[in-house]
Amino acid sequence: MVHWGHPMFLGYFGWTTTAPAILGEIITAPLNVNAMTWRTCPAATELETLVVDWIRQWMHLPQEFGGVVYDTASVGVMHALAVAREEAAPSVRKHGLVGAGAPVFRIYASEQAHSSAEKAAIALGLGEENVQRIPTDTHFRMNLGAMREMIARDVRDNFKPLAVIATVGTTSTASVDPVPEIASICRENKLWLHIDGAYGAGFAILPEKKSLTDGWSEADSIVVNPHKSLFVPLDFSVLYVRDLERLRRVFTLVPEYLRGDTVEAQKNYMDYGIQLGRRFRALKAWVIFRSFGREGMAARLREFVRLANVLAGWIKGDDLFELVAPVSMGVVCFRYIGSDPAFAGSRPSVSARPAVAPYLTGRPNESDLDALNSEIVERINASGRAYLTQTKLHGRTVMRIGLGNVLTTEKHLGEAWEMIQETAKQL
Ligand SMILES: Cc1ncc(COP(=O)(O)O)c(C=O)c1O
Repeated sequence: MVHWGHPMFLGYFGWTTTAPAILGEIITAPLNVNAMTWRTCPAATELETLVVDWIRQWMHLPQEFGGVVYDTASVGVMHALAVAREEAAPSVRKHGLVGAGAPVFRIYASEQAHSSAEKAAIALGLGEENVQRIPTDTHFRMNLGAMREMIARDVRDNFKPLAVIATVGTTSTASVDPVPEIASICRENKLWLHIDGAYGAGFAILPEKKSLTDGWSEADSIVVNPHKSLFVPLDFSVLYVRDLERLRRVFTLVPEYLRGDTVEAQKNYMDYGIQLGRRFRALKAWVIFRSFGREGMAARLREFVRLANVLAGWIKGDDLFELVAPVSMGVVCFRYIGSDPAFAGSRPSVSARPAVAPYLTGRPNESDLDALNSEIVERINASGRAYLTQTKLHGRTVMRIGLGNVLTTEKHLGEAWEMIQETAKQL
């Protein structure tokens, strides 16, 4: 068993279980209702509508956005792109892509965006290769000039640009794409704008992070995973669509045997996606939100950001490591750079280094360092004492720590950091 709940589990985005969350799951399990239509469980439907609207307000989304709870963000983006596809080629739902004479669509996302973009394209028959990956800048944000060029080239080549996925809180570094600028490119080119806020959108509940929401009101859809950053245990993801009716139009389909249980005037969540049977996920979310309150959740998220910055400070103070991405949420990416004389002479002293290392400068032994960074992660994880992950940034392997467990204290983090330093010394 990998103990995700252990305070030294520092992988991915951390662990979202808390005592109220466990109680929420316990009271949900024996009810075991199916929230497919309003009539089959009015409470589940009403509570889902309520908690989804709370989250909408916390994210400063206008009232015209309506949401639906799915299991994951991957499923959310697939549904969002299905609506985009239907609006761009209106009879695909009925006749299929070929029958509708649909063009070859293109979707744009940064090279740091999540692989769920390709999964959605696979599932929707749009083709994995039609997800165009756009380069990022030194802070891992989408390069807008490159995207403009790609769109123009695709139009010249007879592709049909369909949608842009902007990420707020990328998987590797929690970087944030420039959403307002992306929104205006989408407006100019009549593209669907989907915001992947699976991790980062939850941070919008912090008043000091409100600027994260800039441009969101112009989106067509946005996904947020309370199971990543709002303390709801797996699984609980919300897809918001500007005018939820757009989603319903694509997916509503009532089989005869459900007619008796379908009150047309009420919300039947089975109409908002491919799933018919649905768990009562809203109950655990409601329990958690009522227990912590918005400010309680904000305080905990703020602590994750504080811990991430503490760790970043330790990294910056150690000559053998560099911080490789800015810290804005609960994620820290760093790289062991060793004391190899091959580049020691050219390395600036700790005090003279920039806050975030421009580490992709082609030092002679970068690929050796890649292997060493992987090795550190492997050894620590194999020890069973802590767990972290590795990722690739602009082609280089780096270590990554995610803070998202209410049990992780500065002391735990300090122990993990010591383990990393000790492990590096043994290489
Ligand atoms: C930015 C981002 N988007 C989407 C996903 C996919 O999330 P899910 O597991 O809910 O499908 C992840 C997963 O880590 C992610 O980091």
